[in-house]
Amino acid sequence: MYQHVILSLLLAAPVAAQTPATQKPAAPATKPAGATQKPSTEKPAAAATAKGRTIEIVGTEDMKFSLAAITAKPGEMLTVRLVSKGTMPKIAMAHNFVLLTAKANQVEFATAAMNARATDFIPADKKADVIAFTGLAGGGETVEVTFKAPAAAGAYPYLCTFPGHFQAGMKGTLTVK
Ligand code: CU
Repeated sequence: MYQHVILSLLLAAPVAAQTPATQKPAAPATKPAGATQKPSTEKPAAAATAKGRTIEIVGTEDMKFSLAAITAKPGEMLTVRLVSKGTMPKIAMAHNFVLLTAKANQVEFATAAMNARATDFIPADKKADVIAFTGLAGGGETVEVTFKAPAAAGAYPYLCTFPGHFQAGMKGTLTVK
């Protein structure tokens, strides 16, 4: 007798435990069938908007950006990913991406940057000229920065501020239109 009771309890227990679990998906299936689909499509979209459009630029040892022109919509979210390729030690060869305001003087900025090794070649007294910047990427490293494109249409210069690189032509233009 007892064995039967215990057996039935043992059998009943998993059944009882299962019912709420099976009911959960069964109940929402009627109404939120469409609702459950919505979050699944919204999630990737939300993740995409957080970083915006990703633009990959390669920096090479010939001191050039693979991309010298970027076009964006006013206020567009952008992620610039800078891939540094090369085998030289980082202290001798590294790259960054520094986007300046339309009014900034690139030559003056690059010159000041040469003496700013302690701050990864971002001159502290010229931070007002900077819209966005990455850290330094040595050969094989990748750095990135996410920012909002300026709201005002115009041409915004970007450059690598590692000493000598801007002068060698490591620069480009972000056009907002
Ligand atoms: Cu560089």
